[in-house]
Amino acid sequence: MRLQLCHRPSPAGVALFLAADKVAELVSKCLQARDMAYCPYSRFPVGAAILTADGAIITGCNVENASYGLTVCAERTAIQRAVVEGHRRFTAIAVTCDIKDRFVGPCGACRQVLMEFGPNWTVYLTKPDGSYKETSLSELLPLAFSPAHLAKKN
Ligand code: THU
Repeated sequence: MRLQLCHRPSPAGVALFLAADKVAELVSKCLQARDMAYCPYSRFPVGAAILTADGAIITGCNVENASYGLTVCAERTAIQRAVVEGHRRFTAIAVTCDIKDRFVGPCGACRQVLMEFGPNWTVYLTKPDGSYKETSLSELLPLAFSPAHLAKKN
């Protein structure tokens, strides 16, 4: 096992460690998933790869529809696959598209869907060359509405 680690403080102040080779695998899997995108209308392929708390990686790509509004984003495809495979605790997600000159974040709807499963995700915004910018879901969706609010009505 390589000793190189990615370290960032979580919002709760607890250090989260992700092995650099796990991040590399996650990034590589999101790039592979992008190649599976079904996007005949936008021609804008997106790939996502989710790292579960127990170390599994679940991928997704965007799946478009002739009734455009029925399109499902890559991130939500991955979440739905993960849940049906029994995963509900997640550590990180890597997301990529074909844009080479900047890091691109998930759409607002996907940020909310990720937030359903907690604010403490690491998010790797990945360029086609595999370089990435590390951020977090709470940074991407501050002051979020979450399941906890449903229990607090006053
Ligand atoms: N798309 C995603 O898959 N994820 C996002 O976060 C943003 C947009 C897809 C939806 C559609 O198939 C294409 O990108 C263009 O909007």
